[in-house]
Amino acid sequence: MITIYKEKDYEGMSRRAANIIAAHVILEPASVLGLATGGTPVGTYQRLISMYNDGDLDFSEIRTVNLDEYCGLDGTNDQSYRYFMDTNLFKHVNIDIDNTNVPDGRNTDAKAECLRYDTLIEDLGGIDLQLLGLGGNGHIGFNEPDSAFAKHTHCVTLKKDTIEANSRFFDRPEDVPTKAYTMGIGTIFMAGRILLIVSGEGKADILKEALEGPITPAVPASILQLHPDVTIVGDEAALKKLSDKLIYSL
Ligand code: GLP
Repeated sequence: MITIYKEKDYEGMSRRAANIIAAHVILEPASVLGLATGGTPVGTYQRLISMYNDGDLDFSEIRTVNLDEYCGLDGTNDQSYRYFMDTNLFKHVNIDIDNTNVPDGRNTDAKAECLRYDTLIEDLGGIDLQLLGLGGNGHIGFNEPDSAFAKHTHCVTLKKDTIEANSRFFDRPEDVPTKAYTMGIGTIFMAGRILLIVSGEGKADILKEALEGPITPAVPASILQLHPDVTIVGDEAALKKLSDKLIYSL
């Protein structure tokens, strides 16, 4: 079941997404949040920080697991997803940093690291609410278009278009790591609730393909059509190609 909220712009999308996450944190203060990086969630995290500063949110019992991390980057590297999470959210709220988890990009033993991460998620009791962005080629986490849906955390070789898209955060395109650890589609799919956020015209075609096209590992996000509880929050530009029937404009 998919419910879609249409907001005017990036600000509106961020506000709505943060409100949904906040409601979850208020109702279930010890829940496990699956978190995402990229440009899309930055505004959502800023809103959550504001709500925390206003005294409306308490993260002290929240546990988090992030979707993915670049292989080879240390958490102190400003391009690592651990660094992104620390600087965009964790350092600004009262979360216990020991309760935050990101795959360890320094671990060169891929098999051991992926097993460690899957075991950790299992030990936490699974993910209650998973926040997702959408890659330009339909990837979620770093699950790239493929011939099968990956179940578990694994090491992926990033596609050329993903490397190009993410090179905007790096000084030089050749600095973008070519490999990453990512939760599998199976891991993401097991989350109790999924919140996908999408912004901008550049995502309009792939979002339509993911939601209205066939369910196929060639478009990893298409698996969301089968999940029982998906909320999508998008701005007008990202949602403009979708058929109207599922969309709430609030
Ligand atoms: C990266 C991340 C994804 C993210 C995607 C889209 O590849 N691994 O988790 O959803 O980028 O990023 P953006 O939000 O910047 O468009």
